[in-house]
Amino acid sequence: MIEKDLLYEFSTFYKKEPRIFSSPGRINLIGEHTDYNEGFVFPAAIDKKIYLAISPNGSSKCNLYSNTFASTFSFEISKREKSGMGWPDYIIGVVDELIKAGHQLEGFDCVVGGDVPTGAGLSSSAALETCFAFALNEINKLGLSRHDLAIISRDAENNFIGVKCGIMDQYAALFGKKDEALLLDCRNLEFENFKVDFEDYRIVLVNSGVKHQLANSEYNVRREQCEKGLSQLKKMNPEINSLRDVSSNLMLMYEKKLDPVIYKRCLYVAEENERAVSAAFDLANERFSSFGQKLFASHEGLKNDYEVSCQELDLLVELAKESKGIVGARMMGGGFGGCTINVVESRYHDQFIKDIQKNFKKIAGTIPLVYNVSISGGTMEEFI
Ligand code: GLA
Repeated sequence: MIEKDLLYEFSTFYKKEPRIFSSPGRINLIGEHTDYNEGFVFPAAIDKKIYLAISPNGSSKCNLYSNTFASTFSFEISKREKSGMGWPDYIIGVVDELIKAGHQLEGFDCVVGGDVPTGAGLSSSAALETCFAFALNEINKLGLSRHDLAIISRDAENNFIGVKCGIMDQYAALFGKKDEALLLDCRNLEFENFKVDFEDYRIVLVNSGVKHQLANSEYNVRREQCEKGLSQLKKMNPEINSLRDVSSNLMLMYEKKLDPVIYKRCLYVAEENERAVSAAFDLANERFSSFGQKLFASHEGLKNDYEVSCQELDLLVELAKESKGIVGARMMGGGFGGCTINVVESRYHDQFIKDIQKNFKKIAGTIPLVYNVSISGGTMEEFI
């Protein structure tokens, strides 16, 4: 067990007993690139998690050890600069946001690890941020709510890392519940839990193997394009305060009035928002086939209109479409690599994996990794 290994490593390293925290990666059933447009998303926390063993050390120094990367990093709380190493920045970023918000923090010793694959679109970064935000809130007794911690974590990513992400991943990690997905309204951050009772179906993630390097820069470009679209739409109709306010039908009326690329981006967002809400109700009413069609439609929109897919993801979705027992499939997360999410009838599950690995290898030359995930609870303290 990862948490037991961390406990052992921590005691060996620091010669004291830590507290242990965990925070999950996430899947997103549908509702992609809608969160920063005040729209709807439908994510769930999964049983792949970041674990953290941590203890305050009575100084102003933070000592980090990552057993995933087998590397250490230390920084002074008063000196919060980029590490140049990647992973520590998510932690320094969280500390930075807490300090900027006026909180007093003590230095700490920690060991961090976990099994959320990186670059797979499962939001290992939000899992890391929320795990630290939650743990630092506990060990420093800051009294922040889960909502506050989601904002702090999102801001760490926006300001320190420089990815202008929305709130979906941090919310999914902090508010996830076993066997439930949350239909989150990113305008007011209210959400409704939907039971994901997939007795006869399984969620299978297939990793394209492409690490989304383009993602950070292109992600910010998409966000700017949405903002540009919004400001033009607002000039024509002052009642539009976000792309969330524009239905796909209304969007069609603006086709000739917007730059074609901006139009495609905005149309996708309007359509995806509608799909996310109706897909959640499909699920609640066990209309699996209709739910699955929306996943395929979401992929088409992400590929053609939002243009955040890549050849390997498109290939995985095409291969999934040809498979027996497939309900729906699409790329998941920010895009440009990472995983597809597939909903497959349980009785065809093994066959699906065998075929997609074989057929992908024939064309792309590599065997894609497959993750079977179950929907699990959110960020918490672990008592071993
Ligand atoms: C990334 C971001 C999220 C969201 C998705 C796309 O995961 O962190 O905020 O925008 O991409 O839906």
